[in-house]
Amino acid sequence: MGPSESSLGWSEMDRQHGALFHALHVLATSPRGKVDDLREMRRIFAVLTEHFRWEEAEMATMGYPDRSRHVVDHQRELWSIAQLLRSLEDLGELDAEALEACDAWTHRHVASMDSDFVQFVQDREIWELRRECMDMDYEDRLAAFPA
Ligand SMILES: [Fe+2]
Ligand SMILES: [Fe+2]
Repeated sequence: MGPSESSLGWSEMDRQHGALFHALHVLATSPRGKVDDLREMRRIFAVLTEHFRWEEAEMATMGYPDRSRHVVDHQRELWSIAQLLRSLEDLGELDAEALEACDAWTHRHVASMDSDFVQFVQDREIWELRRECMDMDYEDRLAAFPA
């Protein structure tokens, strides 16, 4: 998936996501070399940390109700990348499968959680309505269970 396909309509956020996807793509498709891989992996870790910090600060400013759930997902991903970086440092080999999983996570996260936050910023009324519908659906499902 190219960077433009993950566009959410918030230019600064789209720019940061684009840079991240590009860096992951470059690393995945470059010839393997421990020194270059390590440098690139450290850079991706720094870019990701900075992006999460920016996004979490925006959520705090906007009073986004789902911030803590979103932050947990960020932390999980940072932990995975830290593991990937550590195994690269220790073993000198990039775990291609783990890198692919990280890329897939990033796309999923952007398409679901980040997209939800952007909807909240762009049209809070629709966001709240959608949330209400989800809660109603949840209550219906609960009511369907025998007491
Ligand atoms: Fe996020
Ligand atoms: Fe993001």
